Amino acid sequence: MTERLRYQVKDQLQRPVRDLRISVTDRCNFRCTYCMPREVFGPGYRFVPRSELLRLEEISRIANIFAGQGVRKIRITGGEPLIRRDLERLVEMIAVIEGIEDISMTTNASMLTGQRARSLHAAGLKRINISLDALDEKTFQRVNDVEFPVGRVLQGIEHAQAAGFDSVKINAVIRRGFNKHSVLHLADHFRGTGMILRFIEFMDVGSTNQWQFDEVVSARQMADIIHAEFPIAPVSPNYHGEVAKRWRYLDGAGEVGFIASVTEPFCGDCARARLSAVGKVYTCLFATKGYDLRDLIREGASDKALTRRIHTIWANRVDRYSELRSRTSATVNRTQRVEMSHIGG
Ligand SMILES: C[S@@+](CC[C@H](N)C(=O)[O-])C[C@H]1O[C@@H](n2cnc3c(N)ncnc32)[C@H](O)[C@@H]1O
Ligand code: SF4
Repeated sequence: MTERLRYQVKDQLQRPVRDLRISVTDRCNFRCTYCMPREVFGPGYRFVPRSELLRLEEISRIANIFAGQGVRKIRITGGEPLIRRDLERLVEMIAVIEGIEDISMTTNASMLTGQRARSLHAAGLKRINISLDALDEKTFQRVNDVEFPVGRVLQGIEHAQAAGFDSVKINAVIRRGFNKHSVLHLADHFRGTGMILRFIEFMDVGSTNQWQFDEVVSARQMADIIHAEFPIAPVSPNYHGEVAKRWRYLDGAGEVGFIASVTEPFCGDCARARLSAVGKVYTCLFATKGYDLRDLIREGASDKALTRRIHTIWANRVDRYSELRSRTSATVNRTQRVEMSHIGG
């Protein structure tokens, strides 16, 4: 192992940085009500102009420096990452960074053609997570709010499966009053397919989605709904710090997961940094403040200077928002919080 790969920065709570989520765009073709509600992200909303987005070379340079601080996994996200042209080139650039062991992407799959899935896989993308919150047309369109047909996402999922990724996972956010009935539909549809379905609790990210605690369907409640129809039992985690709680179907139809970020927060193990599309580093999904790297890069900073900056950002990190939230059960002032579409899920 090289000297560089032995190094691991730790934050103030002794947490390493292992994962980097990279948002490649703040734009999306969907207006999911819990993420980019159209009342806020409608006509007139000012998306980031192209010149302000990080260029692919800038992104891979930052990823390289993070790898030197201990990052081993990269996830590409957005907004909707497939909106960004040349994503394959970015994946290729990241795939050759020393220390990076895994590259994955989170997408709504609406633009995932067979060709795109194959070229991303060939470029080095190993895993893909596809967001799908309902199977019935009415609910799905109510969630995406752009009348996007569910059949086209199901096609995208087929393309992902055919392209040969190491894993294709399906992520579903469940919000009471919108799609609670989808828990059973989705479980029934994906069990036995080899794809792992993960249910995500509706989170109070950003400041625009009108989050209310009573709209959260807890992981426990979702597991109970499934268990009543398809008995399941818990499975031990794949690795320390795994975010999704794993359960298996007792009839051998595979696994299902739950991400209980609201009711069972996992800040203690959080080793995740986020890079926004404009080059700000966020050390927590619920952060109000990002640390800019783009200006530093465009002013000609050396790798050494960038490394120092990234090291300092992580070494000073103290965030554990979700744990504090559940202790006080209060909604902390949300007005300044960064939106999910800027830093990815
Ligand atoms: C912000 S999206 C970006 C990638 C891509 N557009 C997609 O939908 O997969 C990433 C993930 O965040 C999830 N998400 C967005 N807002 C959320 C919220 N308020 N609570 C829980 N998950 C949320 C989405 O469902 C999606 O699975
Ligand atoms: S969850 Fe993904 S698909 Fe939905 S609006 Fe947000 S970024 Fe777009």
